[in-house]
Order: sequence, then C-alpha cells, then structure tokens
Amino acid sequence: MIGFATFARVGQEVREDLAAAQQRDPAARSVSRVEILLTYGGVQALLAHRISHVLHEAGVPLIPGILANLMKVVTGVEIHPAARIGRGLFIDHGAGVVIGETAEVGDHVTMYQGVTLGGTGFARGKRHPTVGNQVMIGSGAKLLGPIVVGARSKIGANSVVIHDVPADATVVGNPGHPVRVDGRRPDGPDADWAHLPDPVADAIGGLADRLTELEELMAEQTGHKPGGAEVRRLERRRGPDSAGG
Ligand SMILES: CC(C)(COP(=O)(O)OP(=O)(O)OC[C@H]1O[C@@H](n2cnc3c(N)ncnc32)[C@H](O)[C@@H]1OP(=O)(O)O)[C@@H](O)C(=O)NCCC(=O)NCCS
Repeated sequence: MIGFATFARVGQEVREDLAAAQQRDPAARSVSRVEILLTYGGVQALLAHRISHVLHEAGVPLIPGILANLMKVVTGVEIHPAARIGRGLFIDHGAGVVIGETAEVGDHVTMYQGVTLGGTGFARGKRHPTVGNQVMIGSGAKLLGPIVVGARSKIGANSVVIHDVPADATVVGNPGHPVRVDGRRPDGPDADWAHLPDPVADAIGGLADRLTELEELMAEQTGHKPGGAEVRRLERRRGPDSAGG
C-alpha cells in the first residue's frame, strides 16, 4: 500500500542521495541540488529506482520494470526494481552500472561508472552481492555472486570480486584479494596479491640476462665489446595508484 508515509520516506531518501552527491563528488560541492538532479545520470537513475522499488514492493505490475528500463536507456544505469538500496548511495558518472535483482546495498555507499553487482549463473534465489555500509566500489569493478562485502571496505578499480570481503579491507585484482585489512598488509606467504607474477616480463628479463652474459663472455674472448643499445634489467614499476576523482 502506497500512502503518505511512503512518499515522505522516498522524499527523504532522495534528499539524502542529493546530499551524498554534494559531499562525495569534489566537482559538485558548489553545485545546487537542482543542478545535480538535472545533470547527474547516477542520481537520476537512483531517484527512478526509489520510485520503481516502491511500486515493485506494492505489487504494481510492469511499470517498475518499464521505469527501470527507461532509466537504463537514458542514463546507462540499470538497477533492478527489487534491488534493496540503502540511504545516501552515490553513483558517480553512472554509465555502465548494473545492480541485480537480489543485490543489497548498505548506507552511504559510493560506486563509480562500470560497476556490476551481478550473479554468476542461472541459479534463482539470492545470487547478487550484499554490500555493507560506507563501502567504496571503484570504476569497472565486478562483484559477482551472493558475496558479502564488509562495511567500510574499498574495492579497487577493475577488480573482479567473487569471495566475501572482510570489513575495513582494500581488495584489488582479478580475482580480487585483500591487499590491506585495517590499513595493514595481510600476513602470510601468499598475501601479496597486488604484485602478481608477470611471466612475459620474467621471460624477457631472463633472455636479457643471458644475452648480457654471452656478450661479456664474447668480450673476454675477443676483446671486442659490442656497442648498440644498452640492455637494462626489467623492473616492476611501483608507486601510488589512483584513488577517487
Ligand atoms: C583500491 C583503491 C581504493 C586504493 O585504496 P587504498 O586503501 O588507499 O590502497 P593503496 O592505494 O595503498 O593500494 C594498496 C595496494 O593495491 C594496489 N592497487 C591499488 N589500486 C589498485 C587497482 N585498482 N588494481 C590493482 N592494484 C591496485 C596499490 O598499488 C597498492 O600496492 P602496494 O602494496 O604496492 O602499495 C584505489 O586504488 C582505487 O582503485 N580506487 C578507485 C577509484 C576510482 O574508481 N575512481 C574513478 C574516478 S572516475
């Protein structure tokens, strides 16, 4: 049954969604809420979802699905009317976001373009992720299956997450693995998931080493040191990665 209380609740949810955009998009701090509503695809899709979800819960046929599909065409964000979305979600840039039927998103979550909260097969029932409060999901990240992402965790851009994520963790890579838990690197011999082996670079590095050795041997035998390009050891590049924006 849709009554005044439902309208009041949806109104409050939309106000919180707009506040979330203002607080979490550095580019939106001086932008009015009306302008955000008119120009932010992620916010528009969320507003439509707030309505389609209410209609879905009330048992209204067809309209919720049509509304969700319309928003997909207009904004590129597809949120199934049945998906449960908490307060103050911010979908930055919007395009390419897919949130499946049985997904649950906690309060004050931030997600960027290209995020998928999807299923892994054709099974029915709960098959999409449950995302805790204040989680940040980087652009292009795929969260697949009925996994649970703990509160305040960060999912790196382009990660593919198929296992539960503990609270306060940073997960990166494919398959996604924690590289930080409570701000510290996880212990254990196989915990360095940010620096996976690169067999091609290793093979080229090995060849370069052998070539250098051969050249040194040749120089010893002939007294002639070959010129040409300097052969440098391949090193993995380290340094800060992007976050937010
Ligand atoms: C994961 C992320 C949130 C950083 O979180 P953090 O807790 O500050 O972690 P750090 O930056 O210390 O990174 C931890 C490690 O993971 C690595 N890493 C970070 N992001 C990564 C990613 N997306 N993929 C693979 N490795 C990544 C870092 O190189 C670092 O490795 P180190 O152990 O050698 O230092 C951030 O890198 C990210 O991906 N943010 C998404 C931002 C986004 O989508 N912006 C879109 C704007 S349009």
